[in-house]
Amino acid sequence: VTFRSKLFWLFTLALAVSVGLIAAGVTVVTRQAFEQMYAQHTDALVAQFQREFEQRKQDVARRVQMITDDEATVRMAIALNQPQADVSAYVNVATGDSKSHQLDFLDFVGSDGSIISSAENPERFGYKLDWLTQPEDWPSLGAFLMKVNTQEGPAVGLIAVSTVRVGDKDLYVVGGERLGKNFLASLVLPVGMRALLYLNLDPTFQAVNLIDQSGPVVEGDRFASFIESETRHPAAQIFKVVSGPDPANTEEFHVLPLMGRQKELLGVLLVGSSQQEMVAIEHRIRTLAEGVVAIGLLISLLLSWWGAARVTRPVRKLAAVAREVSKGNWKARVDERGGGEIGQLARAFNQMTQQLSEQREHLVQAERVAAWRELARRLAHELKNPLFPLQTTVENLQHAKDKSPAQFEEVFRESTGILLAEIENLEKIIGRFSDFARMPQPELSSVNLNDIVRGVVKLFEAQFSAVGRPPITSEFHLAEDLPSIQADAALLHRALENLILNAMDAMPAGGVLMLRTNREKAEVHLEVSDTGTGLAPEECERLFTPYYTTKQHGTGLGLAVVQSVISDHGGRISVESEMGVGTSFHIYLPLKPTARPAVTPPVAETREAVGAQKA
Ligand SMILES: Nc1ncnc2c1ncn2[C@@H]1O[C@H](COP(=O)(O)OP(=O)(O)OP(=O)(O)O)[C@@H](O)[C@H]1O
Ligand SMILES: [Mg+2]
Repeated sequence: VTFRSKLFWLFTLALAVSVGLIAAGVTVVTRQAFEQMYAQHTDALVAQFQREFEQRKQDVARRVQMITDDEATVRMAIALNQPQADVSAYVNVATGDSKSHQLDFLDFVGSDGSIISSAENPERFGYKLDWLTQPEDWPSLGAFLMKVNTQEGPAVGLIAVSTVRVGDKDLYVVGGERLGKNFLASLVLPVGMRALLYLNLDPTFQAVNLIDQSGPVVEGDRFASFIESETRHPAAQIFKVVSGPDPANTEEFHVLPLMGRQKELLGVLLVGSSQQEMVAIEHRIRTLAEGVVAIGLLISLLLSWWGAARVTRPVRKLAAVAREVSKGNWKARVDERGGGEIGQLARAFNQMTQQLSEQREHLVQAERVAAWRELARRLAHELKNPLFPLQTTVENLQHAKDKSPAQFEEVFRESTGILLAEIENLEKIIGRFSDFARMPQPELSSVNLNDIVRGVVKLFEAQFSAVGRPPITSEFHLAEDLPSIQADAALLHRALENLILNAMDAMPAGGVLMLRTNREKAEVHLEVSDTGTGLAPEECERLFTPYYTTKQHGTGLGLAVVQSVISDHGGRISVESEMGVGTSFHIYLPLKPTARPAVTPPVAETREAVGAQKA
């Protein structure tokens, strides 16, 4: 995962979470506010209904009282009190009076409870109303709800009763208003709310009995279960009517039972508030949040681009320069502009590279000086040995010529022999120096190290088991899947020869020579071990110094040559040894030598090389 995409997801997540939280919070608060508002509206509406209802009751009672107090009514009561009074003469009185007093229902009823005149149902003339003759204090009762039988069928009315007493007989005046859509129309409703009325006229739920201010409610059947439960247990309660999957169509209803004189359920008032507005606002909040998240996504995309550019680009540049430096370009530098941690890093990096390159320069110079000194010392030492006999021989010659010319001839012959021998010795020394100096550069070709190992050991096999010599056995642990390497076979051959010669010298009493090869990542590893005398730690340190030898006829150049060959191949050599146990040389060669490392003269120590003394 790149830094850029990490940054992007981080920004996006932070934004989405915060926007989500805000949106959820706002939604909850809004919903609460709406619910509170609806509750207030509903309460207000119920209170309004009750006020209106009370006023209507009084109004109805007042109008019925007005009819009762009317002169014509009193006269009718007196006339009806006469013996053989003609009751049929008053059949149509109620119709006229109901119109003039705007009452939906009006009945004049005799003292025995039989109807004299009925506005809503003239055919009921003579019909007995038993409930009316029950002892009841009608004036203090006021208006009440009642089921009324009209010509068109049953209805619910707000009814008031009053009486005219003449002698010991009463004339009952029963009048009232129909409870229906007109009544609902008189209620003032806030937006998003409606009032419904269910008239409980039939034993089971009938959709036609559920009305609003314009008539029967559409899809009234949806209310069936609620209203049926209300008719079974009349009580004020709340229920939700869900229609369809859209929550916007859900309506919440507050139910109020309307009871009659005998506590019978005559109607149900339903005050409903639609959730539409709330759902619409929630929807708008959600859309807004989605929009904000979308815009935020875009912004976080830009931000992550920008942030990544600011952070990763300099880091990548730094990495590229670091690679340059590791390849050997010590002049490579990072752009130091820009503040903050990145700038600091760049400055620190440049400083480090600068210091490293200076230190390296010092080291190279010091090494070079040390190498020249060592060479000069060696040369002086090597030349001193043959020079001394040269000088004494010449002096002898001079002496002989001056003192004993007779013997001169003999001394001359002897001396020139010595001189020639010493000059030859000098030539040998110079030859060795120039040999070492003329180490050829490797000519690379694809070679198999295992083949070289086998080839070299084969050359020595005769010597390993020579008669009169303690035997040396060779042991091979060669990796069969060893990859070929780019190397100079002849030089590797020479190096391996030197190592095996040393091993043989280290095992005068015989032993085991072990050769092991294996692959290690991008290198091949060659191990040459013997079970010889071994080396002390301080000896290990100077082993590779040219002319370091502990052997009487050794040159001390063998390991110097090995090291020079390995280093020319871009490889490295190390030694592991224990006194009396044996010595192991480890050589690591790259599969393919990279650009030649800067040539440094063989590392040499400035202190005296002990073993270089020769006879
Ligand atoms: N396998 C070994 N076991 C013990 N000592 C060793 C081994 N290889 C090298 N040495 C020590 O390191 C010294 C240096 O070895 P190097 O091959 O450079 O020179 P040399 O063997 O002494 O001389 P030359 O190689 O000319 O015969 C040796 O004199 C010897 O003391
Ligand atoms: Mg040697």
